[in-house]
Amino acid sequence: TGKSPTSSDPNAAVSAGHGVQLNADYVVPRVVARIRSRFAEEASGHDWHHIHRVWRLARKIAVAEGARLDVVELAALVHDIADWKFHGGDDAIGPREAERLLREEGAGDDLVEPVVEIVATISFKGAGVRQPMRTLEGQCVQDADRLDAIGAIGIARCFAYGGHAGRLMYDPEVPPVLHATADAYKAAKGTSVNHFYEKLFLLKDRMNTATGRLLAQERHRFMASFIKRFLEEWNVGEGSAHGPAVLVEASSDASGGNELRSSGSRS
Ligand code: ADP
Ligand code: NI
Repeated sequence: TGKSPTSSDPNAAVSAGHGVQLNADYVVPRVVARIRSRFAEEASGHDWHHIHRVWRLARKIAVAEGARLDVVELAALVHDIADWKFHGGDDAIGPREAERLLREEGAGDDLVEPVVEIVATISFKGAGVRQPMRTLEGQCVQDADRLDAIGAIGIARCFAYGGHAGRLMYDPEVPPVLHATADAYKAAKGTSVNHFYEKLFLLKDRMNTATGRLLAQERHRFMASFIKRFLEEWNVGEGSAHGPAVLVEASSDASGGNELRSSGSRS
């Protein structure tokens, strides 16, 4: 086998799964079909539509940034294939499953290796955990994934996940925590509103590309005004337990694993 067939070889697609390596033009639609059916029934925030949005957004960012499109598209498609949150905290399972699916669909090492590296390093692991994304392709996919976690869609996904995981929307007695380690972040069982302070408000300053940074600004502003309003309504206009003061702190300082200071009633 050895040589990859060209995109003009119609038999190539037929023989995938038997060690034949296919051109990315064949691999991408095959991976789309697999992922689409696998995620059709998901309601945890990792549904097919999340993947579809990330795929389109990543492609758009990649074009603007001049990244390799085949790697970006495949990485976007498989990036959430097996999330540690739903596999007992095992973060080796995502890259492993991604590799298996890509090889089954005919991808060769030139695609599998960069894509698997991206899947292994894409996930947010806590406010104080900095894990640089090495390749431009990975930076584009991570930005797209993060953009889908903020803004109006991000708000909806956060509360959808919270409901799925049995979390409270909000509890004024439970302050947000900037997790210093990946293990602390994984073990956290905070409220959905706290998730904004623990992750979502931090994302705009952690975008990798200029294109991503630009797209993040408006989504961030929308999300911040939503939380401000949420807390105003919660407190019936009588002051807040943790509000805009913490919001500023959370989005500008992500260095520690300290509990955020409460700006209101808690002492
Ligand atoms: P992504 O797919 O962007 O990598 P995650 O896998 O971390 O994101 O989570 C999927 C969705 O669920 C995201 O929108 C994220 O903000 C939300 N989410 C993750 N953890 C929590 C949590 N502890 N509380 C509320 N929402 C969460
Ligand atoms: Ni995702």
